[in-house]
Amino acid sequence: MGVHPVYRSATVVEVKQAGPQYVDLLLREPVISRISQPGQFLMIRAWPGVDPLLPRPFDIVQCNAQEKTLRLFVKVEGRGTRLLKELLPGTAVRVTGPLGRPISDYACSSVAFLVRGAGAAAVVHLGEACAQRGIAVYSILSASTASRLVCRDYLQPSSAQLMVATDDGSEGYRGLGTDLLDRLLERQSIDRVYTCGSRRFARHVQRLDREGRLAGFVFLEGLMACGLGDCHGCAVRKRNEPGYYLVCRDGPHFPIGEVEL
Ligand SMILES: Cc1cc2nc3c(=O)[nH]c(=O)nc-3n(C[C@H](O)[C@H](O)[C@H](O)COP(=O)(O)OP(=O)(O)OC[C@H]3O[C@@H](n4cnc5c(N)ncnc54)[C@H](O)[C@@H]3O)c2cc1C
Ligand code: FES
Repeated sequence: MGVHPVYRSATVVEVKQAGPQYVDLLLREPVISRISQPGQFLMIRAWPGVDPLLPRPFDIVQCNAQEKTLRLFVKVEGRGTRLLKELLPGTAVRVTGPLGRPISDYACSSVAFLVRGAGAAAVVHLGEACAQRGIAVYSILSASTASRLVCRDYLQPSSAQLMVATDDGSEGYRGLGTDLLDRLLERQSIDRVYTCGSRRFARHVQRLDREGRLAGFVFLEGLMACGLGDCHGCAVRKRNEPGYYLVCRDGPHFPIGEVEL
């Protein structure tokens, strides 16, 4: 496990609209920005009172200990994320983190990221950590249409190659990111694949993992009430033995053969 999470006040530095559906949110908070590791997330409450009742979980896209900043990338969907979109610079918000199990095993020479939509937010920090260790990073970003391709500018610097797929062909390859992964595997040996943002992608990576072609990992992003392992609302069934994992405590990333998708 990583260090214990802390409950802190953070200040909104910048809220940028990123395409029609996304918000790029920069916060200043000195502790979580210093101790966060790849694979971790935080819970944010950015409204006074108890409506909505629960904080919302988001991946820590980037953290900068010197600047004391944390970056989140938010898909605006329901009430909580609409309130995040309305935040103004200087506003104080409450954050709990870092949460989840940090990724600590970097014993490989190449990784591929197969992500869809906001799923890209889960792998940016990991990509930076891999690149720093000399691990070759291949990023495959996929979305229904070009305006839903996110975090590209944050993934680009750590990627040896960044590939794009859109369902409607508005940018890059017309079709699914899984086709690009299959093509990559034909010409390149890849040790690990991390996937996030699509059950269909996860099942594809699970098949490749089962065939022994690579080691697959999945980021699970279900409903979360506490983020701390207390409510058991985020339980997912173990695949090879009876029982459950808690996504917030044991994940959110898992070896893909170990969880029911
Ligand atoms: C670990 C993790 C990381 C994530 N990272 C990102 C990210 O980086 N970017 C991104 O765009 N999205 C991310 N998500 C998804 C994001 O948290 C949701 O899209 C967001 O919470 C939706 O909030 P809302 O207010 O728009 O939606 P609403 O539908 O209004 O509310 C959803 C929220 O309600 C609560 N809730 C509702 N029903 C239940 C229930 N039955 N049990 C428990 N809680 C319930 C949960 O807090 C849930 O997050 C992540 C999710 C997880 C679990
Ligand atoms: S969200 Fe409460 S135990 Fe995971």
